Amino acid sequence: MTHPLQDTLFDLTTVTKLTARRRNVLRSPKQYGSADEDARPYLAELGQELIAAPQAIQFQPNTTEAVHRWSPYVQGFSASFVQRTLERYRSEYARPVVLDPFAGSGTVLVQAKMNGLPSWGIELNPLLHFIGRTKVGCWKVSAEKLRSMAESVLASKILADPPSFLKSETQFRPEVLFHLRRLKGGIDDFQPMNEEEAQVKDLLLLAFASILVDSSNLKRAPCLGYAPKKVVENDAPIRLFSQKIQQISDDLLLCQSQYGQYLETPAQVLLGNSMQIRPDTPCDLIITSPPYMNGLDYVMNYKIEMGWLGFGQSHRELKHIKDEMVVCDNVSKGLIRSFEQAKPYTNPWVEAIKEQIAFHIERRGNYRRHDMPSIVHKYFDDMYQVMRNMTEALRPGGRFMLVVGDSLIADVYVPTDLILARIGQDLGLRIERLEKARERRSGQVRSYRLRETIVTLKKD
Ligand SMILES: C[S@@+](CC[C@H](N)C(=O)[O-])C[C@H]1O[C@@H](n2cnc3c(N)ncnc32)[C@H](O)[C@@H]1O
Repeated sequence: MTHPLQDTLFDLTTVTKLTARRRNVLRSPKQYGSADEDARPYLAELGQELIAAPQAIQFQPNTTEAVHRWSPYVQGFSASFVQRTLERYRSEYARPVVLDPFAGSGTVLVQAKMNGLPSWGIELNPLLHFIGRTKVGCWKVSAEKLRSMAESVLASKILADPPSFLKSETQFRPEVLFHLRRLKGGIDDFQPMNEEEAQVKDLLLLAFASILVDSSNLKRAPCLGYAPKKVVENDAPIRLFSQKIQQISDDLLLCQSQYGQYLETPAQVLLGNSMQIRPDTPCDLIITSPPYMNGLDYVMNYKIEMGWLGFGQSHRELKHIKDEMVVCDNVSKGLIRSFEQAKPYTNPWVEAIKEQIAFHIERRGNYRRHDMPSIVHKYFDDMYQVMRNMTEALRPGGRFMLVVGDSLIADVYVPTDLILARIGQDLGLRIERLEKARERRSGQVRSYRLRETIVTLKKD
């Protein structure tokens, strides 16, 4: 559809002076379009409707909520969404076992524990696995003990070395770097003598990881990048670390008083690939938010924390972890070449979308990645493998809920939510509900409206 404004823009601008990328955006046939319009034929084929269910599903509100706020990672979803979901099914399942195959920083598991429900998570990034595990595993730690150990850390004079493969001198101002090295030196020096002390050390490390980006010359918005105008005070690490320890110890007191009866509720995060591993007990409710197709790189975005906490010793190691993840659009070309030789899952929608993307890349003449059709294909193959594995873990009568956003790639609408629903059908699940939770703008063609959907599938 062409909008009147589109033509005006062409009149006003000397097209030749525009960058190729901007020119493609202005010329996009998707200007002023919407996913809801483009999704109609897919919905008709599925025999489904999209229910309007506006609600907050992003991580942002978690930054003020107990335990969730221990880690400031914006890619999660909101605790209140998880709470609403658990309440919706409270009467249907006596004591559901909850599972999140993309556990991230542990939002689902923390919230399940606050409701006294046993839970499992799977997470491939060792840093996020550590964070999720610590957020559900340390509720019995004495707040006083944590504060007193933090005092010793703050008083320590031992200097740890910054990660050798990162450019710490550029990422941090010299005074800031000095304080970070002292904090890390103090934590490393602490030798736990029992289980509780080991948990105290984990909480100290989690607090340390959570202040790194705020203390640096970088920002996550949501991708990690330099922030030239950012002002960081010399003592930022000391101040931020003390604040974080205060928050954690306040929350520990709250957990022990408000959720005292749930301290022993099991919550386990498995470290590994959810295409391959699953819990050894059946689950009732899978609540998850998979990586979005043209979304974030869940390894490079966390390289600072991974490096400082020793979860990656080199870029090569980080790349190795990244290659196992559900694919994102800065995946290595080699991985995509080997994928093209494999025999992946496919369906007619995926095939048609691949063809259209290839056509539009050709039409544009240039595009970030010429192998984009295969990247898109790999995304759905990866998701198929995860969903197949997780469906095995689901008890009959159980539900599989995915919070996911759709995409616009090289002027082609990709209804990720509906394709995942269709994959669910292929795996024998029934599409119970498709809810539109919010609208969002496409990163490339800003006037195109995408959405975020809650897909509910049921194993009848
Ligand atoms: C959208 S985030 C989930 C965030 C989570 N809901 C939260 O609130 O923190 C997706 C997560 O999936 C993880 N991931 C990607 N591929 C994976 C795989 N194959 N197996 C397990 N985890 C994976 C990423 O590391 C990332 O943490």
